[in-house]
Amino acid sequence: MPLLALEHLLCPLDQHPLHRDGKTWRCSNNHCFDIAKQGYVNLLPVQNKKSLDPGDSQIMIQARRQFLDSGAYAPLGQALAEAVAELCGQHSELAILDAGCGEGYYLNTVCTNLLNARPELALTATGLDISKWAVRTTRSRNSGINGLVASNRQIPLPDNSQDILLCTFGFPVFSEFQRVVKAGGHIVMVDPGPEHLIELRQQIYEEIRRSPPASLAAGLNDKWQLSSDTALRFSTPKLSAELFEQLLIMTPHLYRASKAGRERAAKLEDLALSADVSIRVISHLA
Ligand SMILES: C[S@@+](CC[C@H](N)C(=O)[O-])C[C@H]1O[C@@H](n2cnc3c(N)ncnc32)[C@H](O)[C@@H]1O
Repeated sequence: MPLLALEHLLCPLDQHPLHRDGKTWRCSNNHCFDIAKQGYVNLLPVQNKKSLDPGDSQIMIQARRQFLDSGAYAPLGQALAEAVAELCGQHSELAILDAGCGEGYYLNTVCTNLLNARPELALTATGLDISKWAVRTTRSRNSGINGLVASNRQIPLPDNSQDILLCTFGFPVFSEFQRVVKAGGHIVMVDPGPEHLIELRQQIYEEIRRSPPASLAAGLNDKWQLSSDTALRFSTPKLSAELFEQLLIMTPHLYRASKAGRERAAKLEDLALSADVSIRVISHLA
């Protein structure tokens, strides 16, 4: 079965339900949001934008697309897909939101894996990102994915509407995540661990910090608990100079590096990197 279209959205201006009317979503107060020709809808009110073009730039998104399409992080895509398939069990209908979807690699991998195993599954997949470039690129990867330009600070989806929420290398807003995830649902967090890309960081920084994955304390309470915590470590294939360049463009490392560090980074090639990521699931105790 193909991926399903979203039926329910919330107006970002008054939180009233939006109804689809041809190529427009409209609320009872007549606030209208047109569906772009690439098939996504922009629900980021101007007053919530901190810049004209928020989030990852077009160049960063293109670099992320090329880097991920090389397969360098394929073991992470596979591990995430398997973790989500296990969480989904035998539900016949599922809604998955990727909050900060980037160019859509992980959401597409997760959905493809689910539908390959269970073609009859009624699956609604939504990629949300504050960057319009990210959402456009996600739709170009898989036009069945619903695309929303919006912020994790104000997710334009109804309460209790999602079974699984993914946040990979993203910016979690747990109050919003927990509002939109259903009772019994799951938030899947992917964050870098202490050894992540250590060989690259050793080249570009004078001093290396081996920090643990970001704290999830803000997302844990009586109803939401950590249900699994997996450290995934693997080695990327040897990366070409071009892939090093893409990796540096798509991450904040280039901007944080010293001049000398940037010069050393520009010479990197034919080197494998250590990937060290933590996949943690926060589950609602229904
Ligand atoms: C490090 S990238 C990760 C992208 C993707 N999840 C991945 O792992 O490939 C972070 C993404 O979060 C987006 N972003 C930043 N602030 C955001 C916010 N407040 N709400 C939603 N997305 C946001 C950026 O535009 C970018 O695409």
